Amino acid sequence: MIAARPAAAPPLLEVRDLHTVFALEEGAVRAVDGVSFALERGRVLGLVGESGCGKTMTALSLMRLVPPPGRIVDGQVRLEGRDLLRLPEREMRAVRGAGLGMIFQEPMTSLNPVFTVGSQIAEAIRLHRRVSRRAAWARAVELLDEVGIPEPQRRAREYPHRLSGGMRQRVMIAIAISCEPQVLIADEPTTALDVTIQAEILDLLRTLRERHGMAVVLITHDLGVVAEQADEVAIMYAGRIVEHASVLDVFEHPLHPYTQALLRSMPSLGSERRRRLEAIPGQVPDLLHLLSGCHFRDRCPKAIGACAEQDPPLEEKERQHAAACIRV
Ligand SMILES: Nc1ncnc2c1ncn2[C@@H]1O[C@H](COP(=O)(O)OP(=O)(O)OP(=O)(O)O)[C@@H](O)[C@H]1O
Ligand code: SF4
Ligand SMILES: [Mg+2]
Repeated sequence: MIAARPAAAPPLLEVRDLHTVFALEEGAVRAVDGVSFALERGRVLGLVGESGCGKTMTALSLMRLVPPPGRIVDGQVRLEGRDLLRLPEREMRAVRGAGLGMIFQEPMTSLNPVFTVGSQIAEAIRLHRRVSRRAAWARAVELLDEVGIPEPQRRAREYPHRLSGGMRQRVMIAIAISCEPQVLIADEPTTALDVTIQAEILDLLRTLRERHGMAVVLITHDLGVVAEQADEVAIMYAGRIVEHASVLDVFEHPLHPYTQALLRSMPSLGSERRRRLEAIPGQVPDLLHLLSGCHFRDRCPKAIGACAEQDPPLEEKERQHAAACIRV
């Protein structure tokens, strides 16, 4: 949608009208409610929004790892034109690794405490590639070195609890890139870490991306991270993308009232005049009880009567700048 590419080639990753639903006793929760975007090689897409808006479920849907009772009910996830949602599970297992790699939101629970980190990386490699144990172990040590872990030979033999949070996150990154994925999905890769370590991990992701030419879906609450790391940004609200454009366009000229509110709530980046953090008025939406029409209307300073009548679709309002709002 954003970057140029040869006319005939499909985008590297194209998500079309993706719907993921949790059928609960109280009703259906549409965690991902018609998400569409495309991502080209080497690009970084920031996926941003408040807690519960569907960022992780979008990522897990791409990987086909939505936990039950959640289910992907509609849409397409095309990697180089091939729809992953139609693949047999056996083929999908090969895609997880060499096609899509993911850094999960909770690094502490994603590593198994009873195996050494080296064996967990080696195991990930052997899941996808026919290599000997010895070769997989040697590659695991190389990967630990690549993600900046000192004394990788020794560290490979350690158990996760012996490593700091930042080191564990590096191990998770090593696992995610172990099969050189075309797209790396990083779900809040720095949220659990302190500020200096956050910067180191983001630097590492940038280096790896440049070295391997991966595209990245970077999920974060932090618009500062998006401004520094991403080429384009998709803003999510209640399971939908409500604005999508280049980082420059979104930061300089946000179109959707929700994006405008998010940007107002962010301390200014340059900080010569550090604005007070202004919370967005109103409640984060409850996906079980969404309003009719535009789901943002109870918090929107620009809402009018017509906003209750239709759920605004995501449309290109300016060149390569899409928003879902009837007043833009
Ligand atoms: N196990 C579950 N059972 C029922 N509903 C769920 C479950 N997991 C997620 N959901 C629903 O899906 C919605 C989206 O969840 P998701 O984890 O994708 O949010 P998120 O944007 O990643 O939030 P956060 O920023 O807190 O990580 C939630 O608001 C919730 O309603
Ligand atoms: S459609 Fe209406 S309520 Fe929704 S964002 Fe636009 S102005 Fe606000
Ligand atoms: Mg999440």
